[in-house]
Amino acid sequence: MKLVTLLINGKSIQKAVSDRTHLGDFLRDTVQLTGTHLGCEHGVCGACTVLLDGMPIRSCITYAVACEGRTITTIEGYAADPVMSRLRTAFTAHHALQCGYCTPGMLATARDIVLRLPEADENRVRIELAGNLCRCTGYMGIVSAILAVLKELREQPDPVVQKLRDETAQGVTVSVASSVAAQAFTSFEAKRIVSDVASASASASEKNMQEGKGTRVNASFEVPFAVEVVWSFMSDLKAVAGCLPGAQIDAQTPERVEGYIAIKFGPMAAKFKGNATIERDELKRSATLRGTGQDSLSQSRATGDVRYQLMALEVARTQVSVALTYTLQGPLAQFSRSGLVQEFVRRMVADFGKNVTQRLQNPGASDPIASESMNPVRVLLSIIWSKIKRFFSA
Ligand code: FES
Ligand code: FES
Repeated sequence: MKLVTLLINGKSIQKAVSDRTHLGDFLRDTVQLTGTHLGCEHGVCGACTVLLDGMPIRSCITYAVACEGRTITTIEGYAADPVMSRLRTAFTAHHALQCGYCTPGMLATARDIVLRLPEADENRVRIELAGNLCRCTGYMGIVSAILAVLKELREQPDPVVQKLRDETAQGVTVSVASSVAAQAFTSFEAKRIVSDVASASASASEKNMQEGKGTRVNASFEVPFAVEVVWSFMSDLKAVAGCLPGAQIDAQTPERVEGYIAIKFGPMAAKFKGNATIERDELKRSATLRGTGQDSLSQSRATGDVRYQLMALEVARTQVSVALTYTLQGPLAQFSRSGLVQEFVRRMVADFGKNVTQRLQNPGASDPIASESMNPVRVLLSIIWSKIKRFFSA
């Protein structure tokens, strides 16, 4: 073992390390900077790219001991970097990441392109990116994001970025974290969706939902009853939860229920066990049902807000507008933003509407409503069909 001292993200770190430990392992296992990803560990995929004295290198084929006294920047060290801040925004806007595995390496290379090649066109960007592989094959978004930053800087030059470009051209070592004034770190967020409900007393999770951290699906349905009748029914948490297909309530208070919701979508089946609370705004006739649950099989976790607002259309006809914002963590997260799943959610809302009507027509019924398995092929065909209809009616 040898003692090495490195300047990592602006901080001097001294650790004992074996001769054969590569920098990627050292960063992840010894310094706990797990934002550096390892893919091939053969210098091929670029996932492990970090900056060494301001230049991108493969940390999987660089010995940690060979970096004695050098400056390393990992993905955790760009909070104050003006180029990375632009790239983060552009990657979000151009959907340049799916699973995000390649993203730390992609961003390090992208930053280098922006600094070295202000005039790069698409062809050049693609050549420069050839050493970074995206297993999700999201190259179009990645290239578009980099081109957008280059264009933005050509149209509105930034003196701070220009200084970094000059230093890069002169081969000056730039410690990213200390090169510019500190800014607050901004993480990636799902593309912002404007929320129409604002509350000064919103909880942290509500704020996250309002800020669009999640997938948002809007839908609405009509119920052939007066708005007061529907509101009185939908203010009852047990009644509302009882209309959700596949939901089963195990315990309840007026403001909180515990239970599970079973979902089937083709071969995918999940049973989220958890709880939900309700907040009502009597004046606006709107309410927010906030739930969280875990699927014991896949260990996926779901968090969601269902906001609904009632509007009288006629004396005995009410429109219920529903905005569902949800996040999925764990193995099922990969499905969360797909059009199929969003369509599935829209259909769940439509079924919920039918169940509300049914329950209002038959107040005595109390059996839980079973979830119907949805056929993904049928859902896909219906999405294609609605797109064709939209195309011809445009
Ligand atoms: S993990 Fe280093 S290049 Fe693939
Ligand atoms: S976004 Fe998944 S590997 Fe690139």
